[in-house]
Amino acid sequence: MKEKLVITIDGPAGAGKSTVSNALARRLSYLYLDTGALYRAFAYKVIEDGILPGDEKVLAALCARIELHLDNIDGSLNVFVDGANVTKMIRCEEVGLVASRVSAVSAVRERLLAIQRQAGDRGGVVAEGRDMGTVVFPMADYKFYLDASVDERVRRRYAELRSQRGSVDYKKVAEDLVVRDRQDQERKIAPLKASEDATIVDSTKMSVAEVVEKMISIIRGA
Ligand code: DC
Repeated sequence: MKEKLVITIDGPAGAGKSTVSNALARRLSYLYLDTGALYRAFAYKVIEDGILPGDEKVLAALCARIELHLDNIDGSLNVFVDGANVTKMIRCEEVGLVASRVSAVSAVRERLLAIQRQAGDRGGVVAEGRDMGTVVFPMADYKFYLDASVDERVRRRYAELRSQRGSVDYKKVAEDLVVRDRQDQERKIAPLKASEDATIVDSTKMSVAEVVEKMISIIRGA
């Protein structure tokens, strides 16, 4: 196997991308690049500053002044906004939905592109997001598109949120996921879609371990 590959994993919300990407990166001793965390960190600042997610002018001005960076602390990726570590504060659905809204704005995508490329282009990375294989790392060595049925993705997201917060409304989780799918797939710039050269993995009936094994065997050419 060639050293220091770039591996991309794209797919919709709740398909298991984060768990799988993290596990795959650990197996290969690679960096796990969670690009959604960057969009979430940007969204966190949008919420904190009381900016409307549809106000493109104000978002462009925020792009010019925001300071965003990634740091690997004890093997996990941490994200900083204007010097503050926001890694733990960006995981709620509210931030996810605003991230999805602002990610449709070209100034925001351009602002985050260089940070993503800088983190990944020396290789040795599992890059996870929506446009890794199509836009950010079009020359990646291996590209995967991880999918699962809507019902299964809602079920997984619900279980994840319940374990974090206790009481969660199943219907609300389902509604938020459908909204996010639509926003991410229908935006004009870098919409969520499988790159033509990506291997599509449907994880609906697969465990995380099975998905990771499948990817490893493809990477190793087994
Ligand atoms: O993967 P996630 O749920 O943390 O991502 C949050 C939102 O950020 C997602 O709904 C769309 C946006 N995003 C994006 O547009 N491109 C990426 N590469 C990663 C995330």
